[in-house]
Amino acid sequence: MATEPDNYEPTEMPLLKEEDGTLVLFHPFIAPEASSEVAATLGSRWIGEGPKVKLFEKKFSEMEGAGFPAIATGAGTDALHIAYKLCGLDADSEVIAPLFTCTATNIPLLHERVKIRFVDVMSDSLNMDVSQIRGMINKKTKAIVCVHYGGLPCGLDELSAIEKEYGIPVIQDGAHSLGLRWRGLPMSHWSRYTMYSFQAIKHITTGDGGMLIINDTDAGLIEKAKRLRWFGIEREKKLGGVWGNDIKEIGYKYQMTDVAASIGLAALPHVNSVLQHRRNLLSIYEQRLKGVDGVRFFSGAVTGEQGYEHGAWLCTILAEKRKDLQKMLYDRGIESNQVHYRNDRYSIFRESAVDDEYPNMDRIQDNYLVLPLHNKIIAEDVHRICDLISKGW
Ligand SMILES: Cc1ncc(COP(=O)(O)O)c(C=O)c1O
Repeated sequence: MATEPDNYEPTEMPLLKEEDGTLVLFHPFIAPEASSEVAATLGSRWIGEGPKVKLFEKKFSEMEGAGFPAIATGAGTDALHIAYKLCGLDADSEVIAPLFTCTATNIPLLHERVKIRFVDVMSDSLNMDVSQIRGMINKKTKAIVCVHYGGLPCGLDELSAIEKEYGIPVIQDGAHSLGLRWRGLPMSHWSRYTMYSFQAIKHITTGDGGMLIINDTDAGLIEKAKRLRWFGIEREKKLGGVWGNDIKEIGYKYQMTDVAASIGLAALPHVNSVLQHRRNLLSIYEQRLKGVDGVRFFSGAVTGEQGYEHGAWLCTILAEKRKDLQKMLYDRGIESNQVHYRNDRYSIFRESAVDDEYPNMDRIQDNYLVLPLHNKIIAEDVHRICDLISKGW
């Protein structure tokens, strides 16, 4: 008989049907050119990993990766797992990681059997508190992972300084933060590894897909990443007809397909307008919700006064009586949700995470709420949501 975890709460608010007047929480962005791109690929010799993947990697790297090598994968989780493997983790390693994130950030670490040291969130955003990291580093620390939650930059000056000072690689989980700029530079400038996600509801999608950008001149590292992506085999050599290659590392099947890359290639010319739209909507939320009783806008400032451009993937607020607010919106046809949960509450992390206290997370775990922000909603929709919230619940 199936059992539920201790903390399971059945929801009274299943997903809404998409119909007139309803505002769903997420919606994929598919470029108008995607169908013809995919059709061309389907009629070609390559539908698995082929020339479209290479082209997508090249164009993506020029746009987001400052020209560094880009390795396309079947999912962002795959890209993270490859990065973790490149850090040479083993059962004796410790990895410093965010407590609050999609579990996909941390699950690949369980496969590497490491000890995870979670970092609490900050009291004014759901990003991890990077000021705690230096105090957590010891001889066993082999990697540091961060997430720019919702698109808000997470301590990149400090993380970059730590990576240089201690020689411990920093992996940025950039699943939420395509287009993020810190001091005018893309994420990949700031640490050795940066992962992107093209999962269905991200800024742009390939159905499912990911990218690993490696900011390192070590050609051996890049070759190794490519081998790990495909069983440990040197694909170029094998496709070139050298069948006698030995396989010396255990890789997996993490590659992107040309079908997926075609959807991605069609989306790339739209990235700036997608981002602009999302940033505009997030700014409206910010202006309208700051100062509303019972609400704190928790997505960080949207404008670049602090030297950044927000990735604008999620609009998150902190609300008193959060469940009542969620229900009030739901009854009016508007979805909202907590989306991610603190990872230490999942049984799978109990064994591997170092026991610690997380006072900031304890304080806000029931109160954060994510509001709709995507290409299918417009400014009037955001005003409607803000009008309802301003009237109280
Ligand atoms: C923060 C974060 N990390 C990692 C992932 C995993 O990315 P993917 O679904 O592309 O594997 C997601 C969501 O999908 C995410 O939100």
